[in-house]
Amino acid sequence: MSSTKSNSKEIKRIAVLTSGGDAPGMNAAIRSVARSCAYYKIQCFGVKRGYQGLISGDLTRLGPRSVNNIINKGGTILKSARSNEFRTKEGRKKAFEVLKENEIDALVVIGGDGSFTGGLIFQKEFGVPVVGIPGTIDNDIYGTSHTLGYDTALNTVVEAVDKIRDTAISHNRLFFVEVMGRDAGHIALNTGIGAGAEEILIPEEDMGLERLLDSLKRSKNSGKLSSIVMVAEGDKIGKNVFELAEYIEENLPDYEVRVSVLGHMQRGGAPTCFDRVLASRMGLKAVESLRDGISANMIGISDGKMVLTPLNKAIKGESAIDRELIRVSEIMRL
Ligand code: F6P
Repeated sequence: MSSTKSNSKEIKRIAVLTSGGDAPGMNAAIRSVARSCAYYKIQCFGVKRGYQGLISGDLTRLGPRSVNNIINKGGTILKSARSNEFRTKEGRKKAFEVLKENEIDALVVIGGDGSFTGGLIFQKEFGVPVVGIPGTIDNDIYGTSHTLGYDTALNTVVEAVDKIRDTAISHNRLFFVEVMGRDAGHIALNTGIGAGAEEILIPEEDMGLERLLDSLKRSKNSGKLSSIVMVAEGDKIGKNVFELAEYIEENLPDYEVRVSVLGHMQRGGAPTCFDRVLASRMGLKAVESLRDGISANMIGISDGKMVLTPLNKAIKGESAIDRELIRVSEIMRL
């Protein structure tokens, strides 16, 4: 099923849920869906705790006032959860019954590719029009240059690494900084450039231990007394960040090595203006798409414009790493 008109049935009630890892900007998107529904005289319902809350019927009416003062808040007022029950046909049937009881005509899913997979199967099985808004800090979704939360996470990481650099300089230390991204290197690559890291290890480019060692030796010999190595959590260099640090410390004895795993703080914080505007645009586009009979699609942004991508393509597609950025990072480390 692609971006076909799901049905000509008038959309009078829309439910919205957040699913998967939370991301800054999700609240701004919820706010936009609720306000856009109010604009078009559509009733909006928020589903608590993602698909699990849909199965248990945990819905709340979202009027325009229900979403006051959340545009600047990280996290999601609807909460998020991963639902094993929704992976079963029985679970999805329960969810469908809940939508029917509440006379809900369509569903907006704010989440990542896993959430979209569930939403697409749900639409195919029960005919409920579903539209996806990409909300994940990983930016690993095909069909959009930016997912909600990515810009905020980049700025959060750069701010954190700037602080780490202060102490690295003070002690002539080499820091390995691990960042999120599950199995994508977008956060590591962009923040590595933004924070002036000497090395950036991403799953898309297997740098290899020897090359890393040689590169750090060259940095040292060129007079660098401290260094930052950004490591994407999904990096495949073969060792976890602590083993990596140990290996380098053993082979580069004149470097004092430390590790900093930024972890879940990358998922929090007030969304940047970019993410707030993106969320506001995506929420409106989602509601207008459903009104126009369009479903099984994801809202994305490409060259600054709102675009639609069939969910089956968004799910299967690759969010390729920008090779030009890799070249920039190699030159900037000299
Ligand atoms: O997908 C977003 C993300 O933050 C990934 O970058 C990370 O690997 C994962 O979620 C962590 O999942 P959880 O919050 O379930 O530990």
